[in-house]
Amino acid sequence: MRIDILSAVPRLLDSWFGESILQRAQAKGTVEVVVHDLRQWSTDKHRRLDDYPFGGGAGMVMSVEPIQRAIVELKSQRPYNEVIYLSPDGELLDQPLANHLSTGGNLILLCGHYKGVDERVREHLVDREVSIGNYVLTGGELAAAVLCDAIIRLIPGVIGDETSALSDSFQDGLVAPPDYTRPADFQGWKVPDVLLSGHQARIDAWRHQQAVERTRQRRPDLLKGEDMEGN
Ligand code: ADE
Repeated sequence: MRIDILSAVPRLLDSWFGESILQRAQAKGTVEVVVHDLRQWSTDKHRRLDDYPFGGGAGMVMSVEPIQRAIVELKSQRPYNEVIYLSPDGELLDQPLANHLSTGGNLILLCGHYKGVDERVREHLVDREVSIGNYVLTGGELAAAVLCDAIIRLIPGVIGDETSALSDSFQDGLVAPPDYTRPADFQGWKVPDVLLSGHQARIDAWRHQQAVERTRQRRPDLLKGEDMEGN
């Protein structure tokens, strides 16, 4: 799988992809993440990417041409399944969407900046718009990093124990049950007896019951299939 990220500030993403699990996944060849500076596709002599909005108003708008040139060039080199624009008014990222994108082949992620992009980018060049939450960031880079992390950790072989990605919170619509490790008794704070019982069926049943109870207490919206706004 290959993910190409188009950004006006590519350096923001260097350290993110140079570290930890994502770096190891890339070193193993499981996934390739390539961050591009959109300015290389600018035809402006100052390599500008933005311009004033027609009709006036505050803020600058990212121009359609460099973005179109970037996407056309990348698409001429290999097939892509989706071009995704990170935007606060996109569809909310959740686990089913991360699951879907992790199995779906190559992606282009477009990071917005300034006031956003010329509407024609959204109309003609982008297949999907994704938001990582109901708040506005200064640019799409952090959102692209979050989306990549959520996708890449699901690819088989990326995190040590593959079953651990499947037992994540949200994979079955429930939050994860509590975990404990040694010591079994820390200053009188005890690990639940059932986890020390060695009885796997009972442990599994306890974990499931804990997951249901926690979801009911902390995220009742998940049980009702609702989002946090109750929609
Ligand atoms: N760009 C700015 N804010 C964003 C958000 N919440 N999600 C995705 N992209 C964004």
